[in-house]
Amino acid sequence: CGIVGYVGPRDSQGILVAGLARLEYRGYDSAGIAVVGENGRLTARKKAGKLAALRESLEQDPMGRGTTGIGHTRWATHGGPTDLNAHPHLADGDRLAVIHNGIIENFAELKKELVAEGVEFLSETDTEVAAQLIARAYRETGDLVAAFRAVVNRLDGAFTLLATHEDHPDLVVGARRNSPLVIGLGEGENFLGSDVAAFVEHTRRALAIGQDEIVAITPDKVTVTDFDGNSVEPQPFEVSWDASAADKGGWSSFMAKEVSEEPEAVANTVRGRVKDGRISIPELEGLDELFVGIERVVILACGTAYYAGLVGKYAIEKWSRIPVVVELAHEFRYSDPIVSESTLVISISQSGETMDTLMAVKEAARLGAKTLSICNTQGSTIPRESDAVVYTHAGPEVAVASTKAFVAQITALYLFALHIADVRGSLDQAVSDEAVAQLEALPSKIQWILDNEQDRIEQLAGWMADTRSVLFLGRHVGYPIALEGALKLKEISYIHAEGFAAGELKHGPIALVEPGQPVFVVVPSPRGSVTMHQKVISNIEEIRARGARVIAIAEQGDSAVLPSADEVLRIPLASPLFEPLLAVVPLHIFAMGLATAKGLDVDQPRNLAKSVTVE
Ligand code: G6P
Repeated sequence: CGIVGYVGPRDSQGILVAGLARLEYRGYDSAGIAVVGENGRLTARKKAGKLAALRESLEQDPMGRGTTGIGHTRWATHGGPTDLNAHPHLADGDRLAVIHNGIIENFAELKKELVAEGVEFLSETDTEVAAQLIARAYRETGDLVAAFRAVVNRLDGAFTLLATHEDHPDLVVGARRNSPLVIGLGEGENFLGSDVAAFVEHTRRALAIGQDEIVAITPDKVTVTDFDGNSVEPQPFEVSWDASAADKGGWSSFMAKEVSEEPEAVANTVRGRVKDGRISIPELEGLDELFVGIERVVILACGTAYYAGLVGKYAIEKWSRIPVVVELAHEFRYSDPIVSESTLVISISQSGETMDTLMAVKEAARLGAKTLSICNTQGSTIPRESDAVVYTHAGPEVAVASTKAFVAQITALYLFALHIADVRGSLDQAVSDEAVAQLEALPSKIQWILDNEQDRIEQLAGWMADTRSVLFLGRHVGYPIALEGALKLKEISYIHAEGFAAGELKHGPIALVEPGQPVFVVVPSPRGSVTMHQKVISNIEEIRARGARVIAIAEQGDSAVLPSADEVLRIPLASPLFEPLLAVVPLHIFAMGLATAKGLDVDQPRNLAKSVTVE
């Protein structure tokens, strides 16, 4: 869910709705705002559906002017996406409004307690329970911060809570546990947001709020305490991008814009990290001892980030010879994991807020592992919970399906793989030089694909708009790319798609192939391994013999694919380890083209949210 809060002299409605628009990628099942009006009364408006529904309602039936307010855009957990279940939830005679992100695990038992006291509930949400608890505590003291303190200590699970009360027309109080919240510092006004996107058009000065902290903002004051009331010094940081980076520009969708930014995402992630031919990652300065004794690496992530991890494994193992396993973060925690002080756990997360990943990192740290995060979002939780961080500099990613962040994640993993090999003295300078040269050459190669192949791929996608199933095959580093190609298609075009390791085909999946079945095949370069190339060509023959329609992704000049493929999408030449950063681009374009041809919203696919802050 997305959360925004404002205190200051301006009319808050516009600020809240604009903030929600920038946060809508976090959930778009419903949206709502609550504002303390100039008449001293609190009013709220909430609507099921995308933010547009709320906007329309506010236009048709405007709420009065008010300066203090909170806003929420929801990804439904408890209770379906209805008007009633939308946030804010009101209590204390409709004088208190509360919004919430996360899941309060013990809400049923707390609700029972309130029901026994005669409290009536309008919604099925856990949030309303929190609202009623805060209202009850508030009535005892008339102090909203004290009420928060009394309540948050009783809540289990994860939450960001924000509240405003008409008795305090220039105050917004917030609290967080395992769920994001940052402060934006303005001149005579202050902001709260799930992430900096909520307020970056007004200010780039921000404060990170730590775990289990309560914050109170007024137009000219910010106070942060822990859950026991001890004061805390929040960490200041400057947002490195401006609001225009999170705008659509002239593009038809954020996804189209973000795919077009893949070259830049790689370039910016490499920039400033190579000094005199050596990898030098500023964030890791002075942290060498973290990596010296590492005997094993465990990579944890979800979704697209997990596939970036699968690619990264090859590079880390090749350059540093440290064994790597890659696990889905949500599977790790409950698997009785074997980690020790000599294990490095690398988490990968665009948002830095994915709850499954965060919980896995915490568990790994508890078990004594060293933790490093690869993350795209400053001020987010996972880097704060890790011993070290390498930021991807992809810029803000808004479309739910991750694209430019994926290539940036692989890039960052490769840089780190070279770094750890160097720290441990196992890196051959010539290998490192070659890898750096490959990384630096990537942006213009990706650009070549966008300039030369995009139109054709989109046309192909248009022809395939009625397709019901697409398979993807790849081998070695091409295998995770096949998985990513399939995920993108599922996410945004709602087509059944599956990725397989090409060698696994004959062990089962080939039974799926019937005449006309489209199959994308990521063909490795013959310059890398002749046998691997030949084997993939044989796989193509095997499926062709059964009537598959083969779309090969192959490097320029590879003529071996021509006789057996129906279509060949070309990528420029690169060393084998770097091919995935190119081969994935046609697949991103294809998924986007197909969803567009089907008339779907590529930025906000059904049922998904970009950052899933519940387990
Ligand atoms: C969600 C998104 C995916 C994303 C995954 C991991 O499921 O829909 O697109 O890959 O989360 O997100 P993260 O922010 O941790 O990279």
